[in-house]
Amino acid sequence: MEYITNDVLQTEKLGTELAQSLPGGPVFVALYGDLGAGKTAFVRGFTSVLSPGSRVKSPTYTIVNEYRKGKRPVYHFDLYRIESEDDLDAIGFDEYVQNGICIAEWCEHIGTLLPDHAITVKIEKTGENGRKITICNEGE
Ligand SMILES: Nc1ncnc2c1ncn2[C@@H]1O[C@H](COP(=O)(O)OP(=O)(O)O)[C@@H](O)[C@H]1O
Ligand SMILES: [Mg+2]
Repeated sequence: MEYITNDVLQTEKLGTELAQSLPGGPVFVALYGDLGAGKTAFVRGFTSVLSPGSRVKSPTYTIVNEYRKGKRPVYHFDLYRIESEDDLDAIGFDEYVQNGICIAEWCEHIGTLLPDHAITVKIEKTGENGRKITICNEGE
């Protein structure tokens, strides 16, 4: 599905809507897009449903943030500094992927190591405030 958003709130809303339509099992949302595209904005909307009141920030130094104000924790990754499968093993990536609700920025950096059940979200700048957002959910 393709969407156009014209401000940050509309991008957050798409994240919210995705969170509202999730299945019960493990979830992996893979975000793609340059710096300033709106990946963290999307995560903010997503998390607002699943962990209301959590403060969402890019986990640049820690690689993963956990938001625990809902029924199930949300794991927010920043994969910018991940360069190999060994790096993923070092953070225990598989454990999160098999059980958790995961949403990850910079999935460009893990290439084909993407989990099979990933929902992909590509965000492209079309102008100062314009974004084209393509959401692909094979499971649907
Ligand atoms: N349509 C839009 N969607 C998302 N962000 C937008 C949009 N228009 C402008 N922005 C701005 O772009 C920036 C996106 O930042 P952020 O979500 O941190 O991006 P990223 O995590 O991809 O680096 C914010 O400053 C936001 O206000
Ligand atoms: Mg970010």
